[in-house]
Amino acid sequence: MPAQILGTDIEQYLDAHERKSLLRFITCGSVDDGKSSLIGRLLYECQLIFDDQLAALASDSRRYGTRGDALDLALLVDGLSAEREQGITIDVAYRYFSTDRRKFIVADTPGHEQYTRNMVTGASTAEVAVILVDARHGVLTQTRRHTFLVTLLGIRTVVLAINKMDLVDYAEERAEQIAEEYEAFASRLGELDITCIPLSAVHGDNVVARSDRMPWYAGPALLEYLETVEPRRPPGAAPFRMPVQTVLRPDLGFRGFAGPVVRGTVAPGDRVVVLPSGRTSTIDRIVTFDGDLAQAEAGQSITVTLTDEVDVSRGDVLASATEPAAVADQFEVDLVWMSEQEMLPGRSYLIKLGTQLVPGSISKPKYRVNVDNLDRLAATTLGLNDIAVCTLSLDRAVPYDRYADNRELGGFLVIDRLTNDTVAAGMLRLALRRSTNVQWQEVEVTKQARARLAGHQPCVVWFTGLSGAGKSTVANLLERRLHALGCRTYLLDGDNVRHGLNHDLGFTEVDRIENIRRVAEVAALMVDAGLIVLVSLISPYRSDREQARSLVEPTEFCEVFVDTPLAVAESRDPKGLYAKARRGELPNFTGIDSEYQPPLWPEVHLEMTSLAPEEAAERVLLTLRERGVLPS
Ligand code: ADX
Repeated sequence: MPAQILGTDIEQYLDAHERKSLLRFITCGSVDDGKSSLIGRLLYECQLIFDDQLAALASDSRRYGTRGDALDLALLVDGLSAEREQGITIDVAYRYFSTDRRKFIVADTPGHEQYTRNMVTGASTAEVAVILVDARHGVLTQTRRHTFLVTLLGIRTVVLAINKMDLVDYAEERAEQIAEEYEAFASRLGELDITCIPLSAVHGDNVVARSDRMPWYAGPALLEYLETVEPRRPPGAAPFRMPVQTVLRPDLGFRGFAGPVVRGTVAPGDRVVVLPSGRTSTIDRIVTFDGDLAQAEAGQSITVTLTDEVDVSRGDVLASATEPAAVADQFEVDLVWMSEQEMLPGRSYLIKLGTQLVPGSISKPKYRVNVDNLDRLAATTLGLNDIAVCTLSLDRAVPYDRYADNRELGGFLVIDRLTNDTVAAGMLRLALRRSTNVQWQEVEVTKQARARLAGHQPCVVWFTGLSGAGKSTVANLLERRLHALGCRTYLLDGDNVRHGLNHDLGFTEVDRIENIRRVAEVAALMVDAGLIVLVSLISPYRSDREQARSLVEPTEFCEVFVDTPLAVAESRDPKGLYAKARRGELPNFTGIDSEYQPPLWPEVHLEMTSLAPEEAAERVLLTLRERGVLPS
């Protein structure tokens, strides 16, 4: 279609539709349930805009960027870009259509292996879910799963579309039976508005207009329902929230903060608080290219200025000063696992909450939910499509809302630090008391005071490498040298620590993560005590070593890669363990059937094939001098 004609069409289209309300809904069900014919019929009867025209529409609508509706169109295309960047393979088709009464965006999610991923994406912005069943088969496992998932994602208004009524002779009893069974299940999911509509997508019965083939049905046709339904929203007047996406500073005189209003309204003169810092200020202006606004509301992306020079950075949240968001670092959360890679309790992941990106870890699940009958099951980890309740611990406190109150500040993504893949989506249920009840006790003798007494700076020297690479040998030699120089040292050796502190841990990925976590915490305490701590652990995973690094100051961590090729380590085999592993008698052996991830930027790289152990120790010593740990 030539752009010009398209452009004119859009302008007319936007004019005509500007004043209508918008409903976002999601459809769930399989092709067999007749989902395609149902959506097809809705679109056909409503004179849809075809999918493949949408991209063109969006790019053209940029020229009309001041139109009220431009945002809707852009959202349609851009709304998922954050997830796309995070490597989610999305399989959700968004379709846009309208009637004389309302505009609609429907998210169509296919139900296959990765169904949670698609449904989380589609449902997290929807207000209503249309769940399809085949009248012949009634409520199936997948019907229950889809219902559970959409309610977990905050949808409280659900339509059960009982399709293919023509194949059960439009029988009232059958429809009633299905509705009863469904309502019995759904009543266990909290307060929901449920409407059951018997229909036939193929014949058009009760889809757009009421059908006289089911005179016993007194309710609305599906489209009628969608045109008039007022979806349930969180109760009460919503207080203002705006996560800051960008700090704008075009010249010295102007300092603006840009971001989306995700909740409530805001106007110049409103008192706001900057979170997590807690500083307060007042909104000065709401700036746009077309002049200032007198007010802005949820759904708009705005730029504000404040009356004072308070510190605000990307990731902060501006909130109503009278009803600020709470700040916490430990939460009980609902978690939907979306990755083939299983969840690793204790592993450091990146948590994306609003515009914040914070490292954090997830505990062993409290329970996993059997979505067929809502039973709670014991679980030690989570796999693809599992849904569970867990504890989330963040490395620092963040402003948040409960998901039930605010999807934007209460929903989060879990990102693997290594692959940058999104592995889970989560919903904050509540903050755990201990985040505020357990506080940091200030002590008077400080790390600096202890360092002065010791005559050197404290530091972690973290040796990593394969079993038999020579970590302990070099660490030992280094400790002897340091000791002779009068330094206060301690050597935490993997084998030794596994006899006491970590005697309960084996060599699965989960156990190793915990092994490394505990040793890292002990090392950090010893740094606080003023020691030079030498750690000798295989520590095969990069993200756990990064986590260990993050526990101390940047100058206090020195990663030493003891680089011995596998073949060489294996030929030495001081403990005979490689031979055992090759015979299959020692599972999860590093380098054989368990991965080793070499450091990318170690402070010291010891290529052991060309270095004697004494030389290697000397190299580390030199680095410690260069870094100011030891006086030079
Ligand atoms: S780590 O991976 O958790 O960092 P750690 O350094 O504590 O490992 O322990 C490694 C030591 O345990 C090795 O030096 C070796 O003697 C012994 N060991 C026993 N089983 C294994 C295994 N499956 N993989 C690696 N090392 C093992």
